[in-house]
Amino acid sequence: MIRLEGVEKSYGHTKVLNGITFEVKSGEFISVMGSSGSGKSTLLNLIGGMDRPDRGVIWVKGENITSYSDEQLTLYRREKIGFVFQFFNLLPAITVYENIQMPLLLNGIEDRRKVLDLIRRVGLEGREDDYPHQLSGGQQQRVAIARALVHDPEIILADEPTGSLDSQTGGIIMGLLKRLVEEAGKTVVLVTHEYSVAKYAHRRIRIRDGVVS
Ligand SMILES: Nc1ncnc2c1ncn2[C@@H]1O[C@H](COP(=O)(O)OP(=O)(O)OP(=O)(O)O)[C@@H](O)[C@H]1O
Ligand SMILES: [Mg+2]
Repeated sequence: MIRLEGVEKSYGHTKVLNGITFEVKSGEFISVMGSSGSGKSTLLNLIGGMDRPDRGVIWVKGENITSYSDEQLTLYRREKIGFVFQFFNLLPAITVYENIQMPLLLNGIEDRRKVLDLIRRVGLEGREDDYPHQLSGGQQQRVAIARALVHDPEIILADEPTGSLDSQTGGIIMGLLKRLVEEAGKTVVLVTHEYSVAKYAHRRIRIRDGVVS
């Protein structure tokens, strides 16, 4: 599903990724571990088409996304990828329902049942008209997970999804994420520096000194 070959990325004179090669199979849930500053978020942004590598190739479903135009990359991001972030990244001025609906709207789809179904599956029934600030951190992350899944992307990228939650809430969120993605057969790349989070994945890799070790 995803294959990186010799991916390199520098910022200024700092080489963050120095030849990353690995593969993620369809339906696989992998975690990428590594210390702070090791390039985990950089790597996720490259896979998600939010940034481009300096060198190397990223294959997704047999297509070389590094050869995509900006327009193709935008479409790729919008259709194929669901993102979950550490600080949820919900839009504060719109409701839970509207936040979850957003990826559908960006793809020109309207599907009220799908939005309501996901709200129910993440356990937020009755909160659809609330605003993000009215929710706890764990509840906000449930909204973000529903938002990441609503447009049925094949790939879920999660960057420290429990990093701003207490460990108990984090455990609940990871269990929910794992169940939802396994039920739906999604491919997941999760980035974390915590083993207690990484252990939810089927397989773990580690970035150290710019390479997979
Ligand atoms: N846009 C940018 N401009 C300049 N330097 C950057 C940029 N993004 C990341 N870096 C640098 O690249 C290195 C890797 O950053 P990255 O955010 O990928 O690390 P990380 O493993 O996700 O760390 P953390 O666990 O703290 O989130 C860091 O040294 C960081 O300062
Ligand atoms: Mg990071």
